[in-house]
Amino acid sequence: MKSAVIVVLFRLFTIGVCVDGNEESVSVAEGDSVTLKSGVTEIQTDDEIEWWFSGSKIATISRDDGGISLSVKPDGSFRDRLQLNNQTGDLKISNIRDSGDYKLLITSPRDPPPEMTFTVKVVSADEVKSLSVMEGDSVTLQTGLTDIQRDAVIRWRFGQQKSLVAEINRKAGIFKTFDGPDERFRDRLHLNNQTGSLNITNITITDSGLYEVEISSTSSKHTIHKTFTVTVSDAVKSVSVKKGETVTLPITEIQKDDLILWMFGEIVLAEIHKAAQRFYISDVPDKSFRNRLQLDHQTGSLIITDTRTTDPEEYYLKISSSRHIINRRIIVTVGPGLSPGAIAGIVVGVLLGAAAVVVVGVIYYRRRSSRNVNRQNPTSNGAQDPGDHVNEGTELTNAS
Ligand SMILES: *[C@@H]1O[C@H](CO)[C@@H](O)[C@H](O)[C@H]1NC(C)=O
Ligand SMILES: *[C@@H]1O[C@H](CO)[C@@H](O)[C@H](O)[C@H]1NC(C)=O
Ligand SMILES: *[C@@H]1O[C@H](CO)[C@@H](O)[C@H](O)[C@H]1NC(C)=O
Ligand SMILES: *[C@@H]1O[C@H](CO)[C@@H](O)[C@H](O)[C@H]1NC(C)=O
Repeated sequence: MKSAVIVVLFRLFTIGVCVDGNEESVSVAEGDSVTLKSGVTEIQTDDEIEWWFSGSKIATISRDDGGISLSVKPDGSFRDRLQLNNQTGDLKISNIRDSGDYKLLITSPRDPPPEMTFTVKVVSADEVKSLSVMEGDSVTLQTGLTDIQRDAVIRWRFGQQKSLVAEINRKAGIFKTFDGPDERFRDRLHLNNQTGSLNITNITITDSGLYEVEISSTSSKHTIHKTFTVTVSDAVKSVSVKKGETVTLPITEIQKDDLILWMFGEIVLAEIHKAAQRFYISDVPDKSFRNRLQLDHQTGSLIITDTRTTDPEEYYLKISSSRHIINRRIIVTVGPGLSPGAIAGIVVGVLLGAAAVVVVGVIYYRRRSSRNVNRQNPTSNGAQDPGDHVNEGTELTNAS
């Protein structure tokens, strides 16, 4: 009965911690990774550790006088997805797809521990693991937990070097963030004390890269790994139009499961949820928009027609899913004295945003003189990171 309840909770929270002697249940979202721990601190001479799945041996690690030998037998489906720790024999399964029992068998001339079974339940998830955001956004990467267990250990890492940028260890009383490589995250990382989610404020181009969270606990024999590929682009977030013109507030990209809210202060002006086919437009309390708001169902952009100088200047965009939350501020200035090219300029900005998303790994440094489109944060800290390729000479457009 109790375990049934726990299994239900696993499904919801995509992490399972259930230690019952030699059996452990693990729930992992499809595509995430999991490390199954052998419980061995160091493999001794003549020890042999075997991992089995569904009746076949998938990995072996043994130690004899000649050293340690590792062998992974990817019979097709596990190809390149298994990693063995040569000290402990822990098995990491990346990009998990297969539910079932993973068995650990340790053969040792001393007292071999009993066979251990990890029952892995893979929960389907069509969430996309890559995320494109704009410079200046505030971004939360979600653990998927609703509550941090008392013995939880959560570690956030960033970049190729996997630098530790945040850590929670309840038992050890640790709850802190770090500045990261080149102190690039200084004062911009915050941990949610309920979920362990990582909030990055005022994101910059050099924050682009791979974020990984490891979720484990002092009492469980497994670790869940979730990865997030974040691409930060330098796109238009501040637009000026001439009174009476139409303005399209851009969005980088939307995913099916995203819930998108366009807000003015606390007021929701529009809501989009593609998965539920919900498209909703509202108005400010004094109804001053009067049918002048439209939604582009495909892109999620908010369109304001027949703009007025009395229209709000500051709009907030909130994009959320179970994996991430993005908050963006967009400034619209309505005034006289602008050329009719304003709308074209904005459209170019949107296309550029999309182009920046497509080009992964290369960061374009866009310089454009624009009378129509004022960019926020024209500088970037690109020079700080020697690993980043900053291509100063590349001009994507010539907004003339
Ligand atoms: C074990 O793996 C580490 C890194 O993965 C490597 O540096 C080390 O040489 C390996 N040790 C043996 C004995 O294979
Ligand atoms: C991140 O934290 C800041 C400051 O606490 C907050 O203003 C912002 O809304 C948070 N961002 C997200 C995406 O939750
Ligand atoms: C969690 O953080 C909030 C504000 O950030 C604070 O009010 C609350 O006391 C904290 N809760 C715990 C359990 O630390
Ligand atoms: C955001 O970061 C930029 C530099 O990347 C800085 O110029 C700007 O003042 C920051 N904004 C806030 C609100 O902290």
